[in-house]
Parts: sequence; C-alpha cells; structure tokens
Amino acid sequence: MPMVIDIAAAWDGLLQWRQEGSLPEHLSGPPMTAAAEQLLSLYRPLLEGPSRQAVAQMAQSLDGYIATAVGDSCFVTGEEDRTHLHRLRALCDAVVVGAGTAVTDDPRLTVRHVPGPSPARVVIDPHARVPPEAGVFTDGRAPTLWLVGPGNVPDTPTGVERIELPVDGNDGFEPARILDALADRGLGRVLVEGGGITVSRFITAGVLSRLYLTVAPLVIGSGRAGSTCRPARAFATHCDPPVRRFTLGQDTLFELDLGEDG
Ligand SMILES: NC(=O)c1ccc[n+]([C@@H]2O[C@H](COP(=O)([O-])OP(=O)(O)OC[C@H]3O[C@@H](n4cnc5c(N)ncnc54)[C@H](OP(=O)(O)O)[C@@H]3O)[C@@H](O)[C@H]2O)c1
Repeated sequence: MPMVIDIAAAWDGLLQWRQEGSLPEHLSGPPMTAAAEQLLSLYRPLLEGPSRQAVAQMAQSLDGYIATAVGDSCFVTGEEDRTHLHRLRALCDAVVVGAGTAVTDDPRLTVRHVPGPSPARVVIDPHARVPPEAGVFTDGRAPTLWLVGPGNVPDTPTGVERIELPVDGNDGFEPARILDALADRGLGRVLVEGGGITVSRFITAGVLSRLYLTVAPLVIGSGRAGSTCRPARAFATHCDPPVRRFTLGQDTLFELDLGEDG
C-alpha cells in the first residue's frame, strides 16, 4: 500500500470493508489525500451501519425534476455523480428500480465506472409491464429479481427470479415487505435507485436509512418529479434530518440521514 492513501487505494479499502465487514487496517493508519478522505467520509456511514439497511438516491435539477417530460434523464447530473452512483451500487447487495424506469431507460444497473461487484437487480413491476426483452431480463450481467403482483403474469424470462407479492390497495407493494423479501434472499443492503415514484414510496414508508440527493445547477422547467412523498408521514418524520453536503464537480450531493434501518 502507498505511504499516502490515494482515492484508488481508499476505494479498494471500502470494497474490502464491504466484503469482510470491518474497517481494513490500512484505512485507519497512513495519511490520505483530500479526495481519499472525502471518499471515506461519504461511504463510511453506509458500511458502519447494519448489514440490513435501505438507502435511496436521486439526481435532480434545481427545480426538482429527475428527467424531462418524455423521461430522458441522460444526464441530469455530471460524470462525478455517475461515478458516485456506481460506487453506491458496488457497496450494496441489490439495486431497486420501478417499472417506469425499467421501461423508459432500459438500464443495465451494473457497476462500470469503478472496480467492484454488480448488485442483484430488482424490478418492481406489479402489472408485469416491463417487456421480456428488457436488458435486465436478458443480458445475464447480474442476477435479476422481478417483483410482480398476484394474477395473470406472463412467462418468467429464463434466469430471472420472479417473486409474487400481495398488493396493498393503491400503494402497491409495501416497501417493508419488499425489503423483507430481499433480506430473505441474503440481500440486506439495498439501494433504491429510482425513479421518483419508487423512491417516494420508500421515503413515505419510513424505511430508508439515508437519501443521497444530488442537485445539478440546471433548470429543466417541467418533467418527471423527484420526490412526491406524502407530507403527513414524510415531513412529520423527516422535516429536519441531519444533512451532509459534498461537492461533485458542478453538482452538490446532499446526504440526508433518515435514521431508519430497512
Ligand atoms: N435522475 C435520477 O436519479 C433518476 C433515477 C432513476 C430513474 N430516473 C427517471 O425517472 C423516470 C421514471 O420515474 P417514475 O417516477 O416515472 O417511475 P418509477 O419510479 O421508475 O416507476 C414507478 C412504477 O413502478 C412501480 N412501483 C414502484 N414502487 C412500487 C411499489 N411500492 N408497489 C408497487 N409498484 C411500485 C409502479 O408500477 P405500475 O405503474 O405498473 O403500477 C409505479 O408506477 C424515468 O424517466 C427515468 O429516466 C431518474
């Protein structure tokens, strides 16, 4: 290991921490570059927290949109925030998206911007409307779990695990039930990646330990809203959460500590 820990060595150490469950010795000893210190500071709470916890991320404009009206979100925030997103994926066991994102973006949800393992991919799709040719169902790059409602569901794509969950009125699946189903399969640390409806349901349900919200210096004007969580629960509980700020290039990352274990 180098005498001064640089960002690459710090990231290796964080991956080792994720794997072994304790802070590697080389991260507590030698001096670090400023970038390595920021990296360690940003992800430390995630790794120090319980092995079962759910976090969420959103990248939004100054006026609160995560995508344009036609669903184009490539890219609201810059390169450094995308690297941050890939780091979050690499530190989690599972990454969750809603059907809207799976249909609009056809995302891969793998780790490509940094070294590290890709998480299991989870698609919340109560009406089974994500097409069978979607990349997460066909590319074989990481395991995929497909969460569907009870009823007339088409064939499960080969290699995909289908999990049928009960629907709770208009709110769909209870987020806590989703996290239980994932924990039962050894997927304890969960990143809820988007979109806005999906993240908002997890915030409203009060099951997130933290929210990573990156704001880009950009006005979109109209489009897909980021947070649409219900005031009664979300603001009564989280009106003034502890927050940390990080600079990611032109963007500002707010890390809100919501204080819940998944
Ligand atoms: N900037 C970012 O950080 C970011 C990240 C990801 C995605 N995006 C963008 O966000 C847009 C899509 O976001 P969105 O808010 O429209 O949709 P979304 O959150 O991706 O998907 C919402 C849909 O997922 C299903 N769903 C989510 N949670 C559920 C639950 N608890 N129970 C049952 N069903 C649940 C429902 O499907 P049904 O409608 O079938 O009931 C719901 O309408 C895309 O344009 C994408 O590009 C942006």
